[in-house]
Amino acid sequence: MVSLKLAALAAAVVSLAAAVNITVSSEGGNATSPHQYGFLHEDINYSGDGGLYAELINNRAFQGSAVYPVTLAHWYPINGAALSLQNLSEPLSTALPISMNVAAGKANSSVDSCNQSKTIIGFYNDGYFGMDVKIKKYTGSFWVKGGYDGVFEASLQSNITGEVFGSTTVKSMSTSLEWIEHQFELTPEKDAPNSNNTFAITFDAGGIEDNSLDFNLISLFPPTYKGRKNGIRVDLAEVLEEFHPTLFRFPGGNMLEGLTKNTWWDWKNTIGPLKDRPEFDGVWGYPQTNGLGLMEYLYLAEDMGMEPIVAVYGGMALDGSVTPQDELQYFIDDALNEIEFIRGPATSKWGSVRASLGHSEPFKLQYVEVGNEDWLAGGAEGWATYMKYRFPMFLEAISTAYPDIEVISSGSVFDNYTIPEPGAGDYHIYGTPDSMVEQYDLFDNVTIPHIIGEAAAVHPNGGTDWDGGLMEYPWWGGAIGEAVSLIGYERNANKIIGACYAPIIRSLDSWAWASTMVQFAADPALTTKSTSWYIWELFAGHLMTHTLTSTADFIPLYYVTGKNEDTGAYIFKGAVYNSTNEADIPVSLSFDGVEAGTEAELTILTGPENPYGYNDPFTGVNVVKTTKEKVVASEDGVFEFSLPNMSFSVLNTGSSALSKRSEMRHGQRG
Ligand SMILES: *[C@@H]1O[C@H](CO)[C@@H](O)[C@H](O)[C@H]1NC(C)=O
Ligand SMILES: *[C@@H]1O[C@H](CO)[C@@H](O)[C@H](O)[C@H]1NC(C)=O
Ligand SMILES: *[C@@H]1O[C@H](CO)[C@@H](O)[C@H](O)[C@H]1NC(C)=O
Ligand SMILES: *[C@@H]1O[C@H](CO)[C@@H](O)[C@H](O)[C@H]1NC(C)=O
Ligand SMILES: *[C@@H]1O[C@H](CO)[C@@H](O)[C@H](O)[C@H]1NC(C)=O
Ligand SMILES: *[C@@H]1O[C@H](CO)[C@@H](O)[C@H](O)[C@H]1NC(C)=O
Ligand SMILES: *[C@@H]1O[C@H](CO)[C@@H](O)[C@H](O)[C@H]1NC(C)=O
Ligand SMILES: *[C@@H]1O[C@H](CO)[C@@H](O)[C@H](O)[C@H]1NC(C)=O
Ligand SMILES: *[C@@H]1O[C@H](CO)[C@@H](O)[C@H](O)[C@H]1NC(C)=O
Ligand SMILES: *[C@@H]1O[C@H](CO)[C@@H](O)[C@H](O)[C@H]1NC(C)=O
Ligand SMILES: *[C@@H]1O[C@H](CO)[C@@H](O)[C@H](O)[C@H]1NC(C)=O
Ligand SMILES: *[C@@H]1O[C@H](CO)[C@@H](O)[C@H](O)[C@H]1NC(C)=O
Repeated sequence: MVSLKLAALAAAVVSLAAAVNITVSSEGGNATSPHQYGFLHEDINYSGDGGLYAELINNRAFQGSAVYPVTLAHWYPINGAALSLQNLSEPLSTALPISMNVAAGKANSSVDSCNQSKTIIGFYNDGYFGMDVKIKKYTGSFWVKGGYDGVFEASLQSNITGEVFGSTTVKSMSTSLEWIEHQFELTPEKDAPNSNNTFAITFDAGGIEDNSLDFNLISLFPPTYKGRKNGIRVDLAEVLEEFHPTLFRFPGGNMLEGLTKNTWWDWKNTIGPLKDRPEFDGVWGYPQTNGLGLMEYLYLAEDMGMEPIVAVYGGMALDGSVTPQDELQYFIDDALNEIEFIRGPATSKWGSVRASLGHSEPFKLQYVEVGNEDWLAGGAEGWATYMKYRFPMFLEAISTAYPDIEVISSGSVFDNYTIPEPGAGDYHIYGTPDSMVEQYDLFDNVTIPHIIGEAAAVHPNGGTDWDGGLMEYPWWGGAIGEAVSLIGYERNANKIIGACYAPIIRSLDSWAWASTMVQFAADPALTTKSTSWYIWELFAGHLMTHTLTSTADFIPLYYVTGKNEDTGAYIFKGAVYNSTNEADIPVSLSFDGVEAGTEAELTILTGPENPYGYNDPFTGVNVVKTTKEKVVASEDGVFEFSLPNMSFSVLNTGSSALSKRSEMRHGQRG
């Protein structure tokens, strides 16, 4: 994908005059929808369960499978209680067949303040690498079966000292006849000093009818983003919202495909009451709860003002198994049902299911992708079947039923795919800084619309090996490489709908991947914006509705110019990568139609001297420096400024940088 034109220019750059004069024409640009910025999310190593999904209890419903045997992991007994897994003849639900039995075991009794003898037993859970405990309202629930006359005590405490930060009692309604849900709220009296905490439930074994009680679906949520039940972790949602994403691709990624053809991410298993959501065989080495399901993803998109790109299962799993042509109709029908669930009227079959779950208005849905990276897991045959019948069959069915939906193939024209009309493509790049820079003109001659469904700089220059040479964190040189690639995509906004950073967040306790835009752990104090976050924020914060053509060569200054019709602003975005002659590039910039004396705000991002510098979550030091200056157009209407080596900048003449999302239009065919 190395562009010869760029390589030739790179060789010539040494002799170029230092100053760059850019004259932006008011004609000849591309009338487009705003080129959008967003992200891909899937449950990569506890970035769904244990990450975005705010549930604090790990292994809350003892879910497992042949691949991931059910365990008592993360559950610990209190006062010698005997904990065991049970497969009861009357389970909580078919979806959650296994529960935890709690018996007195070798418990000691104690005497309370009223000289009553009690045998307090129970269990605790240590969460996803701990739990954040602060003075705020936690909402919990658990299901119990077995006769018990007494109270349960729910508490949050230190896993190191045992100190209790808050507790509440829950009156038992439990009986031996059926499973009963108990709900409670718990507000700690003090903040825990660190996140090494646990959640415990105890009860008096003296009050139980038989020898034991059975528990299942033990759940605890802190306050969630926008207060949604079963919702999203607030600090992570906020750090994402702050970069102004408008595109959201889910549920993957590999997760969509599943490990085998029987265990793809079936959206129907992810909706409705939690007790009816079975385990999902996660593709990153652990079982998932399906708690972060289709509705939760859609609410996140809606709450954050993002357009969903929903990927539907395309008939190929990660083990390479492909659905034969004569069996594919099942999955096509299933995809149509899923789309109806998302945006069908409340009177339709699946739209009514959505309405019954609390959202009678259809969700917005314009983009549907079929499968994920079908050129990869199934080898040559997987890709051949995708091109031969799988994508064409989905494309025809979906675009016939929903002509306004852009149906996106999981490969791009650079995978040698002549994408059939009216389909679009998806291009993924995990590159070195230099290869990200080569993206600059990659799409100049492409006519088919595409999304950039996954993009990130992950290798240092010279490194391409997935098993080595991956950077631990996004770093400044990589972020500037990404900036050049994004400029290239935005220059081609008439055919590129938008770009998604991937994967978006990563648990510091279980790294499955190199670079992610945001790092996190149980302790919100470790939530860290990477160098890439600052770059993407500046792009997304200054959306253009039109690109405008301009004169001037590029290298080492790469740029795009345009206008936002909603705000009336003229916008320039420019990145300097590896300047050779002088460190700072003097720029003279004029827009046809911008008069003398016009004021603009110039925001310049620069990084550390060492291009390998990064934002370390454990020091909290931000290596990205943001400077803002006011520049005024000269008598000739020229903005004069200079841009440093390894920088990304935006000049905006408007007062309001953000375009109105509500008026966002959709990509037009180039
Ligand atoms: C760039 O523009 C400035 C004035 O805006 C002019 O003095 C200079 O000669 C121009 N340089 C080039 C290389 O065209
Ligand atoms: C849109 O931009 C491309 C360059 O990316 C250019 O070739 C094309 O002519 C432009 N289209 C219009 C309508 O100006
Ligand atoms: C019960 O008490 C005995 C005697 O003090 C002690 O050895 C034992 O560890 C206690 N058991 C539990 C489960 O705490
Ligand atoms: C539970 O027991 C039933 C009946 O023996 C069996 O069919 C089922 O496979 C068991 N389920 C699990 C998850 O062990
Ligand atoms: C509890 O019992 C002890 C002796 O067994 C007695 O000394 C004490 O006064 C009693 N306390 C109360 C509150 O009844
Ligand atoms: C909590 O403490 C137990 C016992 O010391 C330990 O095994 C467990 O790893 C701790 N949990 C966490 C999340 O550190
Ligand atoms: C939590 O504390 C326990 C006991 O000191 C220790 O074993 C564990 O490693 C700690 N976990 C974390 C995540 O700090
Ligand atoms: C596309 O075709 C070119 C030329 O035949 C080949 O070098 C390249 O490997 C192909 N790419 C893919 C993804 O098949
Ligand atoms: C696009 O096409 C033009 C005209 O054929 C050619 O000069 C240019 O090198 C091409 N650009 C790329 C990136 O392939
Ligand atoms: C991802 O999580 C799985 C399951 O816990 C674990 O086996 C794997 O080692 C993790 N990956 C990394 C790189 O930590
Ligand atoms: C840019 O500079 C870096 C660091 O010196 C180097 O690794 C890279 O190859 C250079 N890239 C180009 C295109 O000059
Ligand atoms: C620009 O930065 C790159 C990467 O650090 C470096 O290789 C290059 O020498 C710098 N150029 C100048 C003029 O300092």
